[in-house]
Amino acid sequence: MIILLVGSGGREHAIARAIKNSPLTSKLFITPGNPGMQKLGECKNIPVDDIEGLCNLAKLIEANLVIIGPEVPLVKGLKNKLNNIGIKAFGPTAEAAMLEGSKTFSRNFCKKYNIPQPTFNYFTDIELALAEVEKLNGYCVVKADGLAAGKGVVVCDNKEQAQLACEEMLNNKKFGQSSSKILIEERISGREASIFVVSDGHDFKLLGTAQDHKRAFDNDRGPNTGGMGAVSPAPTLNQKILQKIIKEIVEPTIKGMHLENKNYEGILYIGVMITDDGPKLIEYNCRFGDPEAQVILPLLNTDILEIMLRSLDKNLKNCLIRLKNKKSITVVLANRGYPNEFEKNKIIPNISSFENDDDIIIFHAGTALNSKNELIATGGRVLCITSISDTIESCRRKAYSTIDKINWPEGFYRKDIGKLSI
Ligand code: AMP
Ligand code: GLY
Repeated sequence: MIILLVGSGGREHAIARAIKNSPLTSKLFITPGNPGMQKLGECKNIPVDDIEGLCNLAKLIEANLVIIGPEVPLVKGLKNKLNNIGIKAFGPTAEAAMLEGSKTFSRNFCKKYNIPQPTFNYFTDIELALAEVEKLNGYCVVKADGLAAGKGVVVCDNKEQAQLACEEMLNNKKFGQSSSKILIEERISGREASIFVVSDGHDFKLLGTAQDHKRAFDNDRGPNTGGMGAVSPAPTLNQKILQKIIKEIVEPTIKGMHLENKNYEGILYIGVMITDDGPKLIEYNCRFGDPEAQVILPLLNTDILEIMLRSLDKNLKNCLIRLKNKKSITVVLANRGYPNEFEKNKIIPNISSFENDDDIIIFHAGTALNSKNELIATGGRVLCITSISDTIESCRRKAYSTIDKINWPEGFYRKDIGKLSI
């Protein structure tokens, strides 16, 4: 099959690696891709939000399947547009991707289908929002309704922080149209986990679980980022809690979306917090996580392309998904300064000698090649070092010794990914 993969991050590098390994793939195109992915397929420089450009490319290369990695093209309806011109695409439609594209949609949806979640209210008026902050004494979570590149959530300890978050989002339009409506939620507490399922609109299968580490610094300190590392399976889950999440959250979500006439086809990422009252939904994402894909996909023992095709054929019911009986962790090597301002185009030391080991995989995220063909760091998250082994401890040893060998003083990373105490 001729495949077009859309995206350029570590997540898409992990998807590209899995797709390239499938006997069903005859040719892989990636747009826009990154230097790590150039070894796996032919990269074409079209941005992920250029829906028309992506449709034209898919037609030109006669793609049999388009796999959509990031949320932006999904929420913008890339799948709908491709289907309209007769091209198959893996990922939800714009209507189904609203589970991620609008937090008020997903909160109202959960309320309707009795899916456990924090209490919430939404606002477009600053005075009413500030009154809610007062009512909750500032101990709350303020969220932009729409997409905000993972930056639209502020977890507040006091009134000053919550008032500032409301003002920045509603008055100063920090996230443009995405924050013209905000949510103010009850702040809940507990350990977090992410559950990944694939659905065909009726049936779903579990692909794996992971724990993401969103804060920039060790011991969960510092600002929120897109994710500084991940571990799979999620150490916070046991079979009993996982079954409860499936019964109380996953099943009613897939069924509810069907009843709403928004059949969910694709990967569904379910972020939960395990509170004293049981698991509660924190967020839905309409795609694989980044960096969670970098730990979930290397543990799959079933061809991901076959799983995607079965989802598109609405034939997941009897699909057997095999997982390796192993653990994996990924550690993100980021540009110093991330998630705030950072200097771009710093040269990354040669990493090619680490790239051929099955137990250590280096996924590229924000990298590019300069005019001298040297690898440079262009994004906040630069490389993801994934390690697969029998225990988390040995994954940690291998991943961190690889980072030591890479020896890039201009980058930084968390040293506690996979540590049991966090
Ligand atoms: P999100 O981008 O929605 O995943 O939110 C980022 C992080 O904010 C989550 O991983 C949680 O740690 C935290 N968070 C989001 N919503 C809540 C909530 N209602 N209560 C407590 N923490 C939350
Ligand atoms: N790592 C969080 C996300 O992909 O949304």
